[in-house]
Amino acid sequence: MGIQEEFIQELKSRTDIVDVVSSYVNLKKAGRNMVGLCPFHNEKTPSFNVSRENAFFHCFGCGVGGDVITFIKRIENLDYVDAVKFLAQRAGMSMPEDNGRSSGYTDLKNRIYEANREAARFYHKQLYTPQGRQALEYLRGRGLTEKTIIHFGLGYSPQSRFELVNYLKGKGFSNAELVQANLANLSQRGYPFDRFSDRVMFPIIDLRGNVIAFGGRIMSDIKPKYLNTSDTPVFNKSRNLFALQFAKNKANGQLILVEGYMDVIALHQAGFENAVATLGTALTNEQAMIIKRYCDEVVICYDSDEAGQKATARAIPILRDTGLHIRVLTVPNGKDPDEYIKNYGEQGAARFRMLLDKSGNDIEFRLSKLRKRYNFELTEQRIEYLTEAARILSELDNSIEQDVYLSRLAEELNVEKTAVKNQMQKFRRRNIREAQKQERRNIQDTISARNDKINNEKFYNLRAANAEEALIALMMTNPDIAQSVFSQLPPEKFITSFNRKVYEILKKYAESGGEFTLTDISGEFSNDEVSQIAKILASHPRENDPEQAAREYLSVLEEENDKLTPEQIAAADTQTLMEQLQKLKEKKK
Ligand code: CTP
Ligand code: MN
Repeated sequence: MGIQEEFIQELKSRTDIVDVVSSYVNLKKAGRNMVGLCPFHNEKTPSFNVSRENAFFHCFGCGVGGDVITFIKRIENLDYVDAVKFLAQRAGMSMPEDNGRSSGYTDLKNRIYEANREAARFYHKQLYTPQGRQALEYLRGRGLTEKTIIHFGLGYSPQSRFELVNYLKGKGFSNAELVQANLANLSQRGYPFDRFSDRVMFPIIDLRGNVIAFGGRIMSDIKPKYLNTSDTPVFNKSRNLFALQFAKNKANGQLILVEGYMDVIALHQAGFENAVATLGTALTNEQAMIIKRYCDEVVICYDSDEAGQKATARAIPILRDTGLHIRVLTVPNGKDPDEYIKNYGEQGAARFRMLLDKSGNDIEFRLSKLRKRYNFELTEQRIEYLTEAARILSELDNSIEQDVYLSRLAEELNVEKTAVKNQMQKFRRRNIREAQKQERRNIQDTISARNDKINNEKFYNLRAANAEEALIALMMTNPDIAQSVFSQLPPEKFITSFNRKVYEILKKYAESGGEFTLTDISGEFSNDEVSQIAKILASHPRENDPEQAAREYLSVLEEENDKLTPEQIAAADTQTLMEQLQKLKEKKK
């Protein structure tokens, strides 16, 4: 882990998990816990629980859970050490010196950030050399000012395949680091060479200002037009958005979502600094949830060609599911926002502002798309259109908005408004039933042992696993009971190996005299495993008589151990196997 135990303790005591979570999730009181809508999956009824008392969170919908450090790891997409730093900063504590004891993985990530930063500087400087001249002219030719080029840190990757590699090796970076950063590829003979060659370079920067990746555009017709950094230890293209580091401070309730780097840059230059773009892939759920964190309304402004319209139709439900209000801006004449703004020169910004102001919401976009499919001369088609339109309106949560569209529809097709309304309400009731069913299904899925991905032995050892989990929860919430359990129950008695691992770690921490709350032990487990432990804690309320409860679980475990089948024994490790065979023999006698 690399961070001192006392530091974590201090951090823990100064951090209120409810406070922390509240900056991301709207929490309401429910009994002893707080509940809200889960920030890690889309849901309409709250199943995300936070317990101040026990300092953990758990979502009964998607199964994610853990302590405050896990929460920050997940929501800010940080590793353990960075999450601790993040919380320490928040709590006004300064980190103890790392003493070079941070984990190897964190070291590698830091090296990649460093290499990327140096690479970005290198590429940028190239613009002002003779070989980069053409790239600078290209950017100017596309209407970018000096200020914009510097603001976005744009650059040029030289044609020769060795300049960046040599430069960075001169700065002390190893071949492996350059390859891991995806700045270089390895030749067949194992020599690294520059990944980007003769391209205009767009650095991609995260919310903390780290350069995490690059996009590189070729200046000719050679394909691919854009080459991007593949996913690396510091970069995941479905979890980041281009220019969000600028846009998040200018959002003011609204972000503009465009398709390309150049669209973002042109918009920012024209004063629309709330524009962001995905990174060469279709919009993901994760990106939608990130967008939701910084605004209430998103304006989709994709290319007006067919591909762009299709992408718009796909993005709408993803964004809508997060609860965002959506508008769709269609740029006229098949242009993308960059071309449009450039085309109007001085007028570009004002023109785009007008488009923005009259952009309709997604319902309008969908209705007009729908309308095109029907011939209103035919009664049958009119009915079909009205039915489909009613289905779209049934998704609206705002009844005033609903009413406006109902009136419009009724007028458009000259029918009774109440008829359309009845149809819509039918759909609405069905939607609600469906959503409830889906959520129940989700909950059952996560609770059911069959879907237990972390502890996949649970399904076959249900009774034992339930007792193991109850015992783990009991010990973690009643440390005084734990001591006596440790002395009575050797880890081998745990039948499922995941629970055994948890027990062994609790024991290890107890023996070294430390505490073993979720925060203490979370460094020993992966995110998913921590979620699993949090789920165990969340599904076991405090016992009124913990001693009695402990006795019961212990005896269940003893019984289950005695019942082990030969196959189950075969699955256990050798030492345990010998012991259990021994015991079976003794029983038979
Ligand atoms: N893209 C990509 N790889 C490609 C083509 C596109 O990753 N081969 C991504 C890039 O992020 C690009 C976005 O998809 O910015 C949109 O593509 P396109 O509309 O072709 O790019 P523009 O940004 O409009 O680029 P330009 O105006 O320079 O042609
Ligand atoms: Mn373009």
